[in-house]
Amino acid sequence: MKILVTGGCGYIGSAVTAKLIATGREVVVLDNLSRGHKEMLHPKAIFMQADIGDAPALQKLFSEHKIDAIIHLAGYIQVAESVQNPAIYMENNVQKARIMVDQAIAAHIRYFVFSSSAAVYGQPDNMPIKESDATNPINPYGQSKLDFENYLYEQRARGLRYAALRYFNASGATEFSREKHEPETHLIPLALSAAAGERDNIAIYGDDYATPDGTNIRDYIHVQDIATAHLTVLNNLEQLPDKGNLSDYAFNIGDGRGFSVKEVLSQVEKTTGAKLNIKITGRRQGDPAVLIADATKLLLIGWKPEHLSLENIIATAWRWKNKSKSGIMRA
Ligand code: UFG
Repeated sequence: MKILVTGGCGYIGSAVTAKLIATGREVVVLDNLSRGHKEMLHPKAIFMQADIGDAPALQKLFSEHKIDAIIHLAGYIQVAESVQNPAIYMENNVQKARIMVDQAIAAHIRYFVFSSSAAVYGQPDNMPIKESDATNPINPYGQSKLDFENYLYEQRARGLRYAALRYFNASGATEFSREKHEPETHLIPLALSAAAGERDNIAIYGDDYATPDGTNIRDYIHVQDIATAHLTVLNNLEQLPDKGNLSDYAFNIGDGRGFSVKEVLSQVEKTTGAKLNIKITGRRQGDPAVLIADATKLLLIGWKPEHLSLENIIATAWRWKNKSKSGIMRA
């Protein structure tokens, strides 16, 4: 099987690429490197630097490579940025992605796995969240993910078999993949930078939420387990119902347990041995209080997560952060 991974030089895309290659698939990575990093490109992947909205580049790619399936991860991912500049989220995550799907269908590619997000749920009423629960995004990022899920849903009439993976909080690192966003906005890498003395402090965005310690609760899931989930879903695309609702094609990826910001910071202190300088600031716009996945659907089709503990997530992120400092990107 030859698989196209868009965004394969990103945090999750590089983990997915490594897993596909380790299980004997050929991988073509498409990345415009606007947010991805060339050093995260797997040495055995074929690389094309182009935009997902570049139709001629896609036609060239599909004529040179017989692609069996696409795993689409390229996209913008920052909630706060999406609130400030919604237009670029619609352009990149929806309009350009549509161009790619149209080109893929024209090239007779039938299988498509999409990186969606827990952000499609907004402020959910039920916890843990099931795929069939209401989708009410509260920021343009989540809306862009939901809009593209809907677009894929409509393309089933043109023969596309797809699934949307709704990631909860991707975290942890592997030898091939580490969290490296510019600017970095995510809690664990920022806390580790503070532990390493690269920043003065770490902020808690609000301690007045309706949670036991007042800070936000999230479902942190190891990037390695997210990567494995893509393979599980890819192997099951043919088994998805012919006629279903949007939620029948969606799969939550999460651990089913939640940790508060304070709990995460306390584990960071334990793992690193550093005492963090913690500042409580105001709430960040667009942040739901609690997000925890019910990933039963994914487990029922054979997903076997392996790295579930928060301790393991933070330990791997810390280990590979230190390795990258010494210049060793890969084992
Ligand atoms: N947080 C802080 N201080 C920081 C950074 C984050 O207190 O310096 C808090 C946030 O308020 C949030 C939690 O830590 O409660 C986690 O924040 P992240 O920015 O690490 O992650 P998010 O939960 O905001 O977002 C992530 C992905 C999104 C996805 C979402 C779904 O980045 O793409 O998970 O759960 F939509």
